Amino acid sequence: MKRDEFSGFFGVLVATVGSAVGLGNLWRFPYLVGQNGGAAFILIYLAFVLIVCMPIIVSEFIIGRRTNANTVKAFQILAPGTPWSIVGIVGVVAALAILAFYTVVGGWTFDYLVRSVMYVFSKPDLSSLEQQFTQMVTSPVRPILWTILFMGVNAFIVMCGIKKGIEKYSRIMMPVLFVMVVMLVIRSLTLEGAREGLEFLFRPDFSKINTKVVLAALGQAFFSLSLGMGCLITYGSYIPKQENLTKLAFSTGIADTLFAILAGIAIMPAVFAFGISPEEGPGLVFIVLPRIFAQIPLGNVFAVIFFAILLIAAITSVISLMEVVTAYISERFTIKRKITVAIVSVFVTVCASFSSLSQGVLQEVKVFGKTIFDFFDHLSANILLPLGGLSIVIFIGWYLKKEVVYDEYTNQGTLKGTLFNACYFIIRYIAPVAIAVVFLDLILR
Ligand code: PHE
Repeated sequence: MKRDEFSGFFGVLVATVGSAVGLGNLWRFPYLVGQNGGAAFILIYLAFVLIVCMPIIVSEFIIGRRTNANTVKAFQILAPGTPWSIVGIVGVVAALAILAFYTVVGGWTFDYLVRSVMYVFSKPDLSSLEQQFTQMVTSPVRPILWTILFMGVNAFIVMCGIKKGIEKYSRIMMPVLFVMVVMLVIRSLTLEGAREGLEFLFRPDFSKINTKVVLAALGQAFFSLSLGMGCLITYGSYIPKQENLTKLAFSTGIADTLFAILAGIAIMPAVFAFGISPEEGPGLVFIVLPRIFAQIPLGNVFAVIFFAILLIAAITSVISLMEVVTAYISERFTIKRKITVAIVSVFVTVCASFSSLSQGVLQEVKVFGKTIFDFFDHLSANILLPLGGLSIVIFIGWYLKKEVVYDEYTNQGTLKGTLFNACYFIIRYIAPVAIAVVFLDLILR
């Protein structure tokens, strides 16, 4: 049977941008910008995306498209008889670890979307909103039910396959997402007092830059671009042979960054206009924004739009994570896609239930000193992703023959290979050093 693939440039783009744009852009990015000095952080982030991350996206695409295989098999094909396929296995584990907490937040988002549709956020009382949030996340049953529903939606899409599932739904969801983000941006910019938020975002204060800020920027770039765990290898394996990988990588990087900045513009002016600290963290989205929505004209409409944005962004990321695991299991054990997705979904839901319970009744259960939820978060973002990213650049830069890399980069010599040398240099020298530094800092902290 012919392996499924994306239909063309736009199809690949909506799927990869869908994977990249997620809670990382809408919640983590604005909050890190807040904590790390605003515009200066953004400038460093942009430099990392452009210089370090774009070539890594290309690398993952090359591994995937060259082999047309899942992330484990891809390494087995390119490096037979070596332990390199462990990188693929680690990627699959990382995907499961991310899913185990990300789907819980997906469930919260679902819950909040329904609440906003039902006009729950009409009382602008911060303490009651805080209570609502704490009550929801700590309750034993409710968030798990929402997580199950959330998983169901994702499972349905992944079951439908690449072209008729992931691509089809991304084609619908991503433009909707974009339009809704723009609406939110306009609403936020027209608030009185918006200017302070914009200054925070766009006027750099270079005295705020230190190593911690630099490292936070690189870590965020990795997470936001879905790098280092085989997600883009798996999607890469469905890219048609004639598509230009460099163009795809650059478009993905730029679109993801655009979404992050738009999210910043949508959220920060509102935060400043209402005199709230930009360092609020997870609560920013679930506690502070509902309070703002309660105070602005048409607030309820915008609350619905906002939580719909979060939900869509979370879905298009979760399906990419599920595809990493699904492609591997169904191809490795020759199990039908639908059955594989069902197995993966049940497994993820069980793990997610434990993360959810660790916010409440299982709060005291600690894994390496962290709650189950935080453990999955830390393990994936801080350990497995940088480790995977480092292995991938070493693989492309030092293990794989340069001719093979060039051949795939230029579509078997049919493209000019613009920027190949710069890209290759970064992959060989700059990216490994940069990642090693971040990684060491993250584990030593
Ligand atoms: N990039 C996604 C986000 O910004 C998270 C993600 C990481 C998705 C790794 C897939 C793989 O939310």
